[in-house]
Amino acid sequence: MAKDIYVGLLGFGTVGTGVVRVLQENAEDIAQKAGARIHIKKVLVRDITKKREYLEKVELTNRPEDIMDDPEISIVIELLGGLHPSRELMLQAMEKGKQVVTANKDVVAQFGHDLFDMAEKHNVAFRFEASVGGGIPIITPLKECLTGNRISDIMGIVNGTTNYMLTKMAEDGSDYNAVLKEAQRLGYAEANPAADVEGMDAARKAAILASIAFNTRIQLDQVSVEGITNIEPADINYANQLGYVIKLLAVAKDYGDRGVNVRVHPVFLPSSHPLASVKDVFNAIFLRGNAIGDAMFYGRGAGSLPTASAVVADVISEARDIVNDQSSPIGCTCYNKRPFCPLEDTESSYYVRLHVKDEPGVLGAIATAFGDSNVSLKSVIQTRMVGTNAEIVAVTHVVKHSHLQKAADILSSLAVVDKIRSVIRVEAE
Ligand code: NAP
Ligand code: HSE
Repeated sequence: MAKDIYVGLLGFGTVGTGVVRVLQENAEDIAQKAGARIHIKKVLVRDITKKREYLEKVELTNRPEDIMDDPEISIVIELLGGLHPSRELMLQAMEKGKQVVTANKDVVAQFGHDLFDMAEKHNVAFRFEASVGGGIPIITPLKECLTGNRISDIMGIVNGTTNYMLTKMAEDGSDYNAVLKEAQRLGYAEANPAADVEGMDAARKAAILASIAFNTRIQLDQVSVEGITNIEPADINYANQLGYVIKLLAVAKDYGDRGVNVRVHPVFLPSSHPLASVKDVFNAIFLRGNAIGDAMFYGRGAGSLPTASAVVADVISEARDIVNDQSSPIGCTCYNKRPFCPLEDTESSYYVRLHVKDEPGVLGAIATAFGDSNVSLKSVIQTRMVGTNAEIVAVTHVVKHSHLQKAADILSSLAVVDKIRSVIRVEAE
């Protein structure tokens, strides 16, 4: 085995450090598997004066062109994060004939199309396994192992920060602000946690997964997004009493002729569902294919070494292609143009928690509002007073989202209703 493959690494933060560590610590095995020794030749960072571990024989630079113009570098790994200059640098690398690996869901979700076009034009590979689910293999399984299936459903816990927060709220009874502080202290949530708690991080991953699973391009702005910022301890308690857990899910469903729908929102999941046992920062993607049936992929969705595991696997695949002189990488798999089924036309069962006046006729008025909107109720309970209001929890049968919205509008306008505190989808048994 004489071949040496040289890699340019863009970014040496959490994931970049992990990638260098894995390539160093597992170098012998990786060389056997790739059929070549893989060397990190140059690393792009902002601050070249900062002391860095694991980089003894590696050149640090803050000039991208040192990597782009180096003809010996055949693979570029992008681990800068954010949209710019990550997108531009990946495109430049491809133009120079280099293979590209990234963990960057922001760029893949927003500019995947440009990157695939450029990769195809220059006949180079573009891999992004780590962009969804961190260390969990899911992109390659969808693109390779499961291609014989028609995928009809995906439900994923793809954000570790919010899964940690919901787990702690359920197990310790802590409130939202306290668990958010704890998640920040442990380094799970960013100093600005908006992308995690408001659902955008999960939405990017949902758009990537759905595009691959349904072979149709899903734009990020088509994904409807609701995070966990409105979840209160009362919702967690009712979920528990009714036999459910609350999870923030990325959901992608194929509704046949009506098209596909992709969304992110909290869900009441039956405690018997495989995703219900996914706790703390763990991620899992549950899918249904018409040949495989139900399958679940579980593991660490973030972190230095888990994410590096996926990045290094992509690098080894690209190194193998170089060694074997294979030049037909799997490109974009969006060969369909499926219609997008609007959220209003999707169906679900719903949990609705209301604060209402405690007086005769109120339950009747509420039942009428649901009935007039074509929303059939499965159960209604009143367990406690909150101040001078009674708290009512209704669970509906499976109804159209637009009908539930109509009921919510009518309820909000009733003088006896103080406030609708929560509306959360309920996944059937
Ligand atoms: P990070 O810790 O913030 O590291 C970013 C690195 O990129 C730093 O070394 C920084 O340089 C360098 N950098 C950023 N902008 C630059 C620029 N304009 N020019 C030169 N260097 C620049 O990020 P990370 O957590 O490793 O994340 C990297 C990517 O992996 C992101 O796309 C992220 O979404 C994705 N990802 C991360 C995780 C995770 O667990 N962290 C999991 C899955 C996917 P300095 O060191 O000089 O500041
Ligand atoms: N912020 C993400 C999470 C990790 O909490 O899962 C990077 O994708």
